[in-house]
Amino acid sequence: MSETTTTTSNDAPTAARTVPPNQKSMEDIVSLCKRRGFVYPASEIYGGINGFWDYGPLGTTLKNNLRNLWWREMVDCPPDSPDGKPISIVGLDSAIIQNPKVWEASGHVGGFNDPMVDDTETKQRFRADQLYGIVITDAPQDAMFDIQQLLVSQLKSGYVVVHYTFIAAAVSEVCEFLSTNPKPFKKQFGATTDEARIVDDCAVVSYGKKVGIIFPIAVDEQKIHYAELPSPFTGKRGSLTEPRMFNLMFETFVGAIRDEENKAYLRPETAQGIFINYKNILDTMRVRVPFGIAQIGKSFRNEVTPRNFIFRSREFEQMEMEFFCHPDNAKTWYEFWVERRLNWWKSLGIDRANLVRREHDPDELAHYSTACADVEYQYPFTAPGFGELEGIAHRGDFDLTQHQKHAKTKLEYFDQERNERYIPHVIEPAAGLTRGLLVLLCEAYTPDESRPSKMFMRFDPRLAPIQAAVFPLVQKDGMPEVAEKLYRQLRTKFAVQMDVKQNIGKRYARMDEAGTPFCFTIDSDTLKDNTVTIRHRDTCAQERINIEQVETFLQEKIGGA
Ligand code: GAP
Repeated sequence: MSETTTTTSNDAPTAARTVPPNQKSMEDIVSLCKRRGFVYPASEIYGGINGFWDYGPLGTTLKNNLRNLWWREMVDCPPDSPDGKPISIVGLDSAIIQNPKVWEASGHVGGFNDPMVDDTETKQRFRADQLYGIVITDAPQDAMFDIQQLLVSQLKSGYVVVHYTFIAAAVSEVCEFLSTNPKPFKKQFGATTDEARIVDDCAVVSYGKKVGIIFPIAVDEQKIHYAELPSPFTGKRGSLTEPRMFNLMFETFVGAIRDEENKAYLRPETAQGIFINYKNILDTMRVRVPFGIAQIGKSFRNEVTPRNFIFRSREFEQMEMEFFCHPDNAKTWYEFWVERRLNWWKSLGIDRANLVRREHDPDELAHYSTACADVEYQYPFTAPGFGELEGIAHRGDFDLTQHQKHAKTKLEYFDQERNERYIPHVIEPAAGLTRGLLVLLCEAYTPDESRPSKMFMRFDPRLAPIQAAVFPLVQKDGMPEVAEKLYRQLRTKFAVQMDVKQNIGKRYARMDEAGTPFCFTIDSDTLKDNTVTIRHRDTCAQERINIEQVETFLQEKIGGA
C-alpha cells in the first residue's frame, strides 16, 4: 500500500493481465485512435493521402513522451559501458534536405530501390518481393522430394495460384501465417493445413494427400514472366508489368529552377545527418571514441505499398544513434546495444512474450553490414508472427569511409590512448518513433467487456498522454471549486485534465479510452474530511486518499516534471 493512502477498498489494485495480440483487432485500434485523437488520416477532408498520417492531441503527447524517454536513455543518461564506465552520447538535429552528394555517397541514390509491379487494369501497384505464389499439387510418394523441381514442373504446367500478402517479410512468416489462416487453402480444397515447414526458401504446407508450396515469386531463378501470372487484384492474367526498380527517395528542387542540377532529396533516414556531422562534433565537443551521436526526426520514403496503419508510412519519425568505436571492440558493442535496446522496450511495459530478437541471415544483410539484429514485436496484424520495430546494425566503417572518399575530407580519428589512427566502426540502433508509437498503442489496447468502454488503454503511467484526471462528482455544492484548485495544482507538474461533463461512469469510460492511469473524484465526503477517491485504470479499484497527498502519490507513481 502506498504511504500516502489513508484508506483502501477491499479489492486493492492488482495488475490486469495482458491480452495476446491475436485477440486484438487492428480495426478496433485504428477506430479508437481516430475517436480519441491519437491518429487521424492525413488530409482526411480531401479524401486522405495514402501513407501519411496526422497525430492528434493524445497521439502527439504519447509520441513526445516516447521520444523524451528515448532521449533520456540515449543522451541525458546513457547506460554504463560493459566495463562499468559512463558512456558519452551527444544529440544532434540536422537538416532534412542535404547536399544530394550525401545520398550518392551513402548509396541511397544508386541502391535504395524496391522492385515494383503495376497492375495496368486496376492501376494498383505492389512490391514484387511481396508477391507469393502458391502451387498446390498431390503430395509426392517420396518424402524427400526435390521441392524446386516440383515447383518448376508445376509452374511450367501453368499451375500457380497467386496469393498477395503484405503481412510477410520472409517466407517463414508466410508459412506461419498460412498455417494459422487457412483461407487460401480452404477456398481451393475445403481443407486446412496439417503441417507447415520451410524448405529451400519455400513454405511447404501439407494437408491430407495434398501439398502446397508457397514461394516468393521474385526469385530470379524462377524466370517468371509477370504477364503470365494472375493479377492478385482481379485473378486475371495479362495485366501485370515486369518489376521495375523504383527509388524510394522523395525528390524536390532547391531554388527557382526545376532542373537536374537543383534536384535534392528528402532524407530517407536520419543516420546520414549524423555521419556528415561526425567531424564537426569531434572538433567542437570533448568526445573521444567510444562515443555516440543521437538524432530524432522525420524521414521520408516513397514506399511502394504503405501498409498496416502507421507501421509503414511515407513520412515517419526515426530515433537513431550511431555509436563510434574501435574496430576491435565493435562486436562487444554490437552485443551490448542489441540487448540494451531489447530491454529498453521491455522497460516501457511491453510484454517480453511480444518481443523477439531476430538475427539477420547473411543474405539479408545490407552490403555494408557485417551483423544486424532486429527487435521485433508481435503486432496484431503479424500475429502469431513478428514484425520489425528496431534494427541494430554493425555498419563497420562503411559510412565514414564513403563520406571521406566522396567529400574528400579526412574522417580518421587519432586515438591518443592507443597512439593509433583509424576510421571508427559504427554500431547503429535505429528505431522508428512512429512505429514505436504503434507498438505502444497495440500493446496498451486491452479489450474488457465488463467496462462501459469495452476496452481500456494500459499505458505505462510515464507514457500516458493524460496522467491523471480530476472530476467533481456533481457541478454544485462547492465541488467544482475544490476540483479546480486540485487541477491547477497538479497541472504544474503532470499532464492532467479536469472533466465536469456527463455522469461519472461516462467520464471514467473516456479516461479508460485515453489510458489515464488515475482519476481523482471530489465528492461530498471531500468537503467533510478532505479525502478524494482514486480510481485505478487497470483494475477499476477505488481507494480514498487525503487531498493533500495527491501530488506525492502521483510523484511516486509517475515521477514528476
Ligand atoms: N539508418 C538505418 C535505417 O534507417 P531501417 O531499418 O530502414 O534502418 C529503421 O529503419 C527503423 O525505422 C525501422 O526499424 C522502423 O522502425 C522505422 N521505419 C523504417 N521505414 C519505415 C516506414 N516506412 N514507416 C514507419 N517506420 C519506418
